[in-house]
Amino acid sequence: MDCNHRAYRNSAMAALSLSVLLTLPALSPGAESSNKGIAGPAGQPTFARHIAPILQAKCQECHRNGSLAPMSLVTYQETRPWAKAIKERVIQRQMPPWHIDKTVGVQRFKNDTSLTDEQINTIARWVDSGAPLGDPKDMPPAIHWPETNDWQAAEKLGQPDLIVKSEPYTMAAHHQDVWWRPISDKLRGRAMLMEWAIGKGYDLYHPNTGKLLLPGSQISWDIHIHAVGAEIRDNVELGIWLYPKGKAPKYRTYLTAFQAVKGSPRKREVDIPPNSIAESQNFTVLKQAAILENFQPHMHLRGKAMAVEAVLPDGTTQAISYVGNFNFNWMTNYIYEEDAAPVLPKGTVIRVTAWYDNTHANPNNPDPDQWVGFGDRTVDEMGHAWMNVTYISDEEYSAWAARRKPTP
Ligand code: HEC
Repeated sequence: MDCNHRAYRNSAMAALSLSVLLTLPALSPGAESSNKGIAGPAGQPTFARHIAPILQAKCQECHRNGSLAPMSLVTYQETRPWAKAIKERVIQRQMPPWHIDKTVGVQRFKNDTSLTDEQINTIARWVDSGAPLGDPKDMPPAIHWPETNDWQAAEKLGQPDLIVKSEPYTMAAHHQDVWWRPISDKLRGRAMLMEWAIGKGYDLYHPNTGKLLLPGSQISWDIHIHAVGAEIRDNVELGIWLYPKGKAPKYRTYLTAFQAVKGSPRKREVDIPPNSIAESQNFTVLKQAAILENFQPHMHLRGKAMAVEAVLPDGTTQAISYVGNFNFNWMTNYIYEEDAAPVLPKGTVIRVTAWYDNTHANPNNPDPDQWVGFGDRTVDEMGHAWMNVTYISDEEYSAWAARRKPTP
């Protein structure tokens, strides 16, 4: 059974951090007519005409009643109190949670959710001019959102062909971290199939590429659970999209953790003194030509930034990706467009550098006075770049390099 599994829903994580309401806000623009008259001066952006469409396109997926964000940004009344916070978050490019540096490395992605410079500028001008409503008649019709617990990739791919569920686990309100490792009975194999961390959406592979699930396979779960102050019983579900029967993809892709931390898997060397910024760097040689399909930086609470570079056999260095304002709550998966994904020759060295902020300046830092070492607990550190790596032959690499050769 060839298998292209692309998306993942983590209901345990969701239940750990939110309560689900089922009402959908469908306030008609007329509901705001009491605010009529608060229109911006000519030329100034208004909520009804300029801001609401941006919120619909880039924010309401999460910022509406029943979804995961802490507040709804659907109506003017709901949005107005957050105007200053919105300006700050969008200018710093913390919201929407798309943190990859727009000046370094690959810049085209299949799942880009970021705001354009123009949209950021419009929001900033709107806030600076008093965040006016404008004419409610300008409001775009409210969006009718799908059910909140649907698969994120369903919009692109339809419903998954196969859903694998872990055994449920009951986590105590107060407890050390737990690693829950049940084996589901449907599918067996030892290769790492996929990884999910807080804030990730899904994996999406290039055409003619996929992960391989052999007949009779089982999914072996390794679920890291962190206590959040309330007892919670939940399970994890994995959604898998298969290639049609008889259509085997040519390329198999392998989930790879390119390490920023030196040492063996059992003894990695990251050493972060209290109240300091630290750096770690490690190197991995590609033993075969390869395409890198995505970048998903992985660090814990002290994570600050991560850079991936390729040092080619000819000695040149190519910047691949950089996230400068990493946020533990958002392990966003940046999926490269096919024609933008790095294609690298055999012998390339992948260099990953991670920076950690163990000071008060890091809002996610639980205790800057702690000395932090390597470990699996959320309060320990690690640093690696998760990438789906698709290996190709030297001939395929040469053909690709010839096609991309810059014209003189
Ligand atoms: C993928 C889901 C998602 C999207 C898309 C998203 N947000 Fe958020 N937002 C969240 C979550 C979850 C939080 C709370 C956790 C955090 O701060 O990271 C949050 C926090 C915020 C906050 C801070 C709230 C506070 O308590 O101070 C602001 C402001 C904000 N978002 C604005 C926006 C705006 C504006 C957009 C669109 C341009 C947007 N967000 C898009 C999920 C999202």
